Amino acid sequence: MRIGVLGAGQLGRMLALSGYPLANQFVFYDLSGSPSVGLGEVIVDRNNEYLDDFLSRVDRVTYEFEHLPVDVAERIAAEKPVHPSPRSLRICQNREAEKTLFGDLGIPTPQWRIAESPEALQQAAEELSCPVVAKSNTEGYDGKGQAVLKSPEDAKAAWSSIGHPKLIVEKFVDFSREISVIAARGEDGELAVYPMAENVHSEGILRYSIAPAPGLSADIREDAERYIKLLLNELGHVGILALELFETADGLVANEMAPRVHNSGHWTMEGAETSQFENHIRAVTGMPLGDVTPRGVSCMINIIGSNGSSADILKLPYAHLHLYDKQERPGRKLGHINIVADSYEELIWRVRNCASFLPNCPEFDCSLTSA
Ligand SMILES: Nc1ncnc2c1ncn2[C@@H]1O[C@H](COP(=O)(O)OP(=O)(O)O)[C@@H](O)[C@H]1O
Ligand SMILES: [Mg+2]
Repeated sequence: MRIGVLGAGQLGRMLALSGYPLANQFVFYDLSGSPSVGLGEVIVDRNNEYLDDFLSRVDRVTYEFEHLPVDVAERIAAEKPVHPSPRSLRICQNREAEKTLFGDLGIPTPQWRIAESPEALQQAAEELSCPVVAKSNTEGYDGKGQAVLKSPEDAKAAWSSIGHPKLIVEKFVDFSREISVIAARGEDGELAVYPMAENVHSEGILRYSIAPAPGLSADIREDAERYIKLLLNELGHVGILALELFETADGLVANEMAPRVHNSGHWTMEGAETSQFENHIRAVTGMPLGDVTPRGVSCMINIIGSNGSSADILKLPYAHLHLYDKQERPGRKLGHINIVADSYEELIWRVRNCASFLPNCPEFDCSLTSA
């Protein structure tokens, strides 16, 4: 099958790398003007001239990037099957729509308000009581377009630093850790839920994901599974859906979701029987889903800003290096390393060893190391 992918970054690259063995072909449609996918056919379309050309070359369409105009997705859906649907896209790219859906389905969220002026932001901060997090309602990623308000008086500065006409303001959640659950839904409604991951962020960017998340209670696991299944079925989603959650003393609180393969699921490439990328491709092409059982315990380390010493990393027998072939730049995701082990104890020392070859990599600090 010829699969059209909206977006042409590393997620598209890894989708293609897992889709070629199943005899699929890939055409990427890039609106940014700086594709990094490095394989397949790439159509760069900065002025919306080549959409028909793109559509004539593909059988089905999916995306690796959710910040694209919904009307483009709808135009595409009128001509070719698009998975996930434009509805999934519309909700997942808009924090207000996302939190409203969570609420409708009984999935707990932080208390939130919408603010469309600095005065409204200040009022929201007063109502929710600080600290609060203000986020641009659309377009945010990697912690961009956000500010924490320690007091309502911070509203003016936060408003101008974010520079967006519509914000969502959330009560700051006192979480013990961040976790995510990733699942696939097939065209026939089949569901497959991966073991949850514990995620460690630094400067707003994911640094480490550990899966299965250590020490999860059965209640928490069941809640997360119930939430992601509710969302997948409600959206009639086809493909991978990722849900980011906070673990708190009172249970799980939902943060945000993404209608695509997710950075906190990269561990599945070597750490699960079927990777999130292959399962996304299977779903999008109407094939049965693959087994999501973990192969031991895994940690993914993101390579941010600088590639570090690839030769040293490749000398480690347990390190699986994935480079995205992108230019080094501070804060940029350049690749990741997957490590699989038989025990968490073994995992910790392998991760520490490996991270020592990455410049400026923050120390491996998670529930395993603080216990
Ligand atoms: N309400 C909140 N309370 C506490 N921390 C938060 C809250 N919202 C976001 N954060 C922190 O900021 C990070 C990025 O926010 P998120 O909403 O996931 O945006 P992005 O789209 O940039 O990933 C989260 O992973 C979490 O560490
Ligand atoms: Mg996030």
